[in-house]
Amino acid sequence: MASIPVLLLFSSVLLFSLSTFPPLCSCSASVLSTPSTGHHALVVPIRKDPLANVYSIPLKQGRASFLLDIGGPLLWSACSAFHPTFPCNSKICMVARTFHNPICPLAKILPGPSCTCYATPVNPLTNKCIFADLTSTDVIISTTDGHNPTGSVTISGVTSSCASRAVLKSLPRGIAGVAGLARSGLALPAQFASKFSFKRQFAICLPSTSDATGVAFFGNPPFFFLAVPEFEATARLTYTKLKRNKMSPGYFLSLAGIAVGGQTVEFLQRVLDFDSLGHGGVKLSTVTPYTVLHRHIYLPFLKAYARATSGIPRAPKVAPFDLCLKSSALGSTRMGYGVPQIDLMLVEGRNWTMFGANILKQVDAGTACLAFVDGGPKAERAVVVGAFQMEDNFLLVDVARSRLGFTSSLLGVRTTCANFNFTTAAN
Ligand SMILES: *[C@@H]1O[C@H](CO)[C@@H](O)[C@H](O)[C@H]1NC(C)=O
Ligand SMILES: *[C@@H]1O[C@H](CO)[C@@H](O)[C@H](O)[C@H]1NC(C)=O
Repeated sequence: MASIPVLLLFSSVLLFSLSTFPPLCSCSASVLSTPSTGHHALVVPIRKDPLANVYSIPLKQGRASFLLDIGGPLLWSACSAFHPTFPCNSKICMVARTFHNPICPLAKILPGPSCTCYATPVNPLTNKCIFADLTSTDVIISTTDGHNPTGSVTISGVTSSCASRAVLKSLPRGIAGVAGLARSGLALPAQFASKFSFKRQFAICLPSTSDATGVAFFGNPPFFFLAVPEFEATARLTYTKLKRNKMSPGYFLSLAGIAVGGQTVEFLQRVLDFDSLGHGGVKLSTVTPYTVLHRHIYLPFLKAYARATSGIPRAPKVAPFDLCLKSSALGSTRMGYGVPQIDLMLVEGRNWTMFGANILKQVDAGTACLAFVDGGPKAERAVVVGAFQMEDNFLLVDVARSRLGFTSSLLGVRTTCANFNFTTAAN
């Protein structure tokens, strides 16, 4: 019995030190084999599934789509009958175990060649742990010059993990797995960057409707959107530093406060930081439909928003929201309904400002609700910035420099996330 905690401690110390090395690729059994020159970025469409409220990207031939999980540590899906595995004592196996999610049991790593490496990704929709073989797979994705797709590449030997087919039942229809974009060594940004020798960075631009596709880029700019004049997103970014959390490979903002209609919301600032166990903090999540606030923040925030909109007629509440307005009473602007703005006040003194389109969710023809939800008194995070608040915002995650670039709503510059030109340019 006593040997288990020792093993656990030993392996987590070892893994943590390994995680500071650049992503490993050449050490894996299957070396990436496509040519690595000439492409400065990869591009992939993002689709919104309005029923399941999830966003997905195609990474294979055919219709299989992968759930986009900005905080996920790796790529996972169901296993095919014959799939390569890695030994437990391989370096790549240690990388795979760098961020062990505490909800997953830690099994013994047996010495010797007969032990095959497994990973324990967590299904972000059910928050259940999945036992998955560490394996490798091919990814098919388009290259881009920043204006259009320029062709398609097969990236072979992308380290991933796979579980029994039963896991597919826990995912929405049409979703074949999960694509993790976190800052860990086996997440797609690190693997693509080392494969193509571009910067370890990616951008996501989530669509606001299911009849249009948004876009994700991996690699170096420019990233153009159709607009008049043509809009290059990275020229318009405001940057803020991302905080590291030893316990989680996700991306965390350095938030100093939240304001509603120009007034700072009063709450205990302390929860915006991590505690000694890595709890608290402000996380970005593409698998959380609406921003979730810890109750300590939610209640004063809700009160502040109700006060700021006190002149607007109310509509009956629609779950999971607590404040709904009669939309016929609302004026409209280029950036959605004309309602008080919300500022995420960053430590640098800059604001990520949200306008109507990212604040109010139209729940039926006559009702628009404040699209923020109560995380309760035991919420793990102070704030989880959800997907609705990111829609039609261009976000550049510069993993290498640990910073986030954001544009605020693209509607303000008369474009949207649906305006990347996916027509392949003729050569
Ligand atoms: C950020 O937002 C706060 C609250 O709305 C405001 O007082 C402050 O001036 C803003 N800062 C900048 C740089 O716009
Ligand atoms: C999209 O790109 C294609 C290929 O370069 C081009 O022919 C077309 O005009 C572009 N569409 C728009 C609306 O600019």
